[in-house]
Amino acid sequence: MTGLQWNGDELLVLDQTLLPGKSEWVRCTTADAVADCIVSMKVRGAPAIGAAAAFGVAVEARRLITEHADLKPSELTAKLKDTVERLGKTRPTAVNLFWALDRMAKSLQECTATGCTNAQIAAALREIAEAIARDDVAVNRAIGRYGMSLFHGPVSLLTHCNTGSLATVEYGTALGVIRALHEQGWVKQVWVDETRPFLQGARLTAYELGEEGITHTLITDSMAGHFMKMGEVDAVIVGADRIAANGDTANKIGTYSLAVLCQHHGIPFYVAAPLSTFDLQTRFGGDIPIEYRNEREVLEWMGQRTAPEGTAGMNPAFDVTPAELISAIITEQGVIHVPDRERIERFWAEQGGT
Ligand code: MRU
Repeated sequence: MTGLQWNGDELLVLDQTLLPGKSEWVRCTTADAVADCIVSMKVRGAPAIGAAAAFGVAVEARRLITEHADLKPSELTAKLKDTVERLGKTRPTAVNLFWALDRMAKSLQECTATGCTNAQIAAALREIAEAIARDDVAVNRAIGRYGMSLFHGPVSLLTHCNTGSLATVEYGTALGVIRALHEQGWVKQVWVDETRPFLQGARLTAYELGEEGITHTLITDSMAGHFMKMGEVDAVIVGADRIAANGDTANKIGTYSLAVLCQHHGIPFYVAAPLSTFDLQTRFGGDIPIEYRNEREVLEWMGQRTAPEGTAGMNPAFDVTPAELISAIITEQGVIHVPDRERIERFWAEQGGT
């Protein structure tokens, strides 16, 4: 399963706002179309956003060359730098978006330095976008393998939001670990938080687990503590949108509450994320920009207002879990146990980072 399809010229985005009821693909041949898919969350999940944005730059290069045959390479590059900036304004929290766009921007710089033709600029951008997508699949499989090493037999896991094939290019991060455990026959049960207000858990994770035949049960976010207290949860595993240099981790709203609950109940709390989700320039979680979405997502249910008129709503899409609540961060290059600034720095130095 995947939510992104690339045919060399255009990007197809599976509209995740319609799942699980309808599978509709949106054809993107411009950066604006890709930006709209990201803002409206037709494509969402940190790695998927990064890959989509990279393809957004690639399709825009193609469009500009096709529509403006007389464009000089310097003009094309200038326009594409604006495109990179425009795509960077779609969503603020997931750092994978900026990581991918930085790679596209560097390619533009190199092309300027080496005097590329328009066709060479477009080809270089397309190749990088394709590499980002290809690498993501391999990275997720490696995360799955490292995640497996934390378990020694059948387990009941709880997960939040959607971190699977739909949130990445394929396979998933936290859901990738769950998939790997399932392949080993080690998943007893996956408790799926519905993930209010956008319902990524109820709509997307439940859908992916169902497609894979992985035993799962949907709960509301507020039921997590109850099932932990009942001894029904062996570990919690979630993804990440941005990990600061000290290990503080931004992820879907509600993640922090789960980590606090885990500490109270003595349950391991794992974060699974690629190295591209680390932002070592951001020293603490408090410096991570948190996206606030429209309050209507909280005040309404399927377009119908549920709260009284006049009631205000707040809708932070992410929260930050302090590093001290995280048992381990699982990456494609290994596991950082009890993450803190020092251990992350050491791990980064050993692995060479990205
Ligand atoms: O608002 P979303 O749906 O883009 O948020 C997604 C998450 O918070 C995921 O947990 C995170 O991006 C990791 S996806 C592998």
